[in-house]
Formats: sequence, structure tokens, C-alpha cells
Amino acid sequence: MAKKHKVLALFDAASPTTLDQDLSQELKTKDWETEANVVEALTALGHSCEHLAIFDNTDVIRQKLESFQPEIIFNLADQFKNNRAFDQNIVSFLELQDVPFTGCGSMGLTLCKHKGISKKILSYHRIRVPEFVILHRGKRIVRPRRLSFPVFIKPLKEEASYGIAQASFVENDEDFKQRVLFVHEKFGQDAIAEEYIEGRELYVSLLGNHRLQVFPIRELIFQEVPPEEPKFATYKAKWDEEYRKRWGIVNAFATQLEDGLAHRIGNVCRKIYRLLAIDGYARLDLRLTPDNEVVFIEANPNPILARQEDFAQAAEKSNLAYPQLIERIMHLGRTAARE
Ligand SMILES: Nc1ncnc2c1ncn2[C@@H]1O[C@H](COP(=O)(O)OP(=O)(O)O)[C@@H](O)[C@H]1O
Ligand SMILES: [Mg+2]
Repeated sequence: MAKKHKVLALFDAASPTTLDQDLSQELKTKDWETEANVVEALTALGHSCEHLAIFDNTDVIRQKLESFQPEIIFNLADQFKNNRAFDQNIVSFLELQDVPFTGCGSMGLTLCKHKGISKKILSYHRIRVPEFVILHRGKRIVRPRRLSFPVFIKPLKEEASYGIAQASFVENDEDFKQRVLFVHEKFGQDAIAEEYIEGRELYVSLLGNHRLQVFPIRELIFQEVPPEEPKFATYKAKWDEEYRKRWGIVNAFATQLEDGLAHRIGNVCRKIYRLLAIDGYARLDLRLTPDNEVVFIEANPNPILARQEDFAQAAEKSNLAYPQLIERIMHLGRTAARE
């Protein structure tokens, strides 16, 4: 039997919280599915688990560490004051507390959150990334000539397809300018404009600090979208069940990959994971071009851990049942080198 631990499950909340706030209602909602699944697994594993949600105040973490004295923090807090670019700041704070925590350290989170920096590092190491340009707020919006249409525009530091819609795909300079302005104004963020990569959309889940395990590849499939239409994961394509049904959008295990390709993709992903200083667990978003070239789109350290989501589904396909996956993630957190 594995040793039992005192675990503090750390969440983020959308409004101010208190130290001993009752979250039982929240934990019944779809928005808190990951948190509920993880707490349930930790409890089923026999750990002594308490939880805490933070909004804009790190003092409550200090107080909770004092009163509960956890041996590890299971970190599911990935925004601060509703800002998802602050995930790395929360983890930087945790790194100062002398309590181990699960998932990725601040360096990996910082490199991955910035969709420009991650690509610069990888392209230096000859991993194929889309051509791109960063468009800062308050500066002139010009498309460099090397970036030819179609172009794909997104917020520089976002997640979960926030800010991704059909209008992200642009084919002329007027639409380019409009969409960049929209990202600046609506999301209060700099924008990144990328070469649009045509191809299959693959998600690769990895687990580990040094020795990395690669799980079977997942794919986002668009069954009812006409073949000539561009296909990509808009916010609706990810989260709107009605919309997904209408366009036959499903997440499934990738099939019909030619011999040796899954192996090659796994190796590229291991390399990406290490180059971006990821530890714990991550899901990498890739595109596979019609001639089987692997193109990096984005790395997601600390991906959504809900049982039904791609990461846990892929782990389960490798015979790692959900509670065992949670136990492994905890073990990796306890043994990670954080300085
Ligand atoms: N350069 C690109 N070429 C083609 N599709 C892209 C490109 N960048 C993003 N996408 C599409 O948009 C989706 C969201 O982009 P991504 O960078 O993964 O943002 P998020 O962090 O919101 O998931 C991707 O899953 C993919 O479908
Ligand atoms: Mg993504």
C-alpha cells in the first residue's frame, strides 16, 4: 500500500474567498469538474485531503499551510484575479513555501504561456513551428511579408481557446488588422499572428519529470465540416455541446497514422517537453500536415485533469486508471527538484 499523505488541493475561484469557505455547491458544477474529480480520487486513495480556493490573496495560502500543515499541495490553481497568465506567479509563490506541489514549476509555465517565446526556443532546436509575429498593443499593426495568408490570430497568453473564433482565420490585411485590434481591445492582450497550418489536430499527453511516459495520441475530429473548410478548435468547438453535435466535432484516439509515425511524434514531444522545462504532466497541441510533418502549436503544462478530458482518457488507455494517475502526479510533485 502506498503511503498516505496530508494533501492540500489548491483551486482558483472567480471571486474573493475565505480560509474555511464551503465549496460543496461549486464542486457539484460542471466548471469545477476537475476539482471534484481530483478530490474524489485523493479521498478514494486514502489521503487526508483538504481544499482551498484563492482569488486575489495569497495570504490565505500561508494561513492554510500553517493550520493544516500539508505534506503536498495538489495544484489546480491556474488563474489569479481571473487572469490565466498569472498561473506562473502562483507557482512562483508556492516555490517559496518549502512545501512540494504537483504539476509544472514556474519556469515551464512561464515559457509555455507565452506563445512566442516557446516557439522561439523550439525553432532554435529545429522543431517545426509556424512562422509568427507578435503584435503589441498601442503599436502599428503591420503584417510582415514573410507571413503569408492564411494567417491565424490569437491572444498571446491564453488557454482553452479563449479568443479563438472563425474570425481568427484571416485571408487579407483588413481582416488581419481588425482581428488583432479585437484581441487587443476585447482581451486586453498583445496578439500573436501565425502561419495557418493545415492538417490534422493532435493532442499528445506526457507524464514525468525526467523519465517521460507518452500516452496514446488523441485527435480532434470534425466529422461534419466540409473537407475544403479550415478546421480548428474555436471556443465553441471545444466547449459548446450543441455546436459540437451540429458539426460532428469529437475528441478520439488518433487512428490511421502511418507506421512509425506515432513513435516519431512521441520522440518529438519528449524533446519539446524537456526544451520547455516542463515537469509533472502536460498536453502538447500539434498539427500534422498532409505530408506527415509534425508542427508544434502549443504546450499545456498542467492540462485539465477532469476524468473525461483528453489527458486522463489518454492515461487510461495506457492502463493508468484515474486514481492511479492522480497518485502518480502526486508522487512526481513530491520528487520534483524545484530550485
Ligand atoms: N498556427 C495555427 N495553424 C492552424 N491552427 C491553429 C494555429 N494556432 C492555433 N490553431 C488552432 O487554434 C486552436 C487554439 O490554439 P492554441 O494555440 O492551442 O490556443 P489555446 O491555448 O487557447 O488552446 C488550436 O487547437 C488549433 O485548432
Ligand atoms: Mg491549445
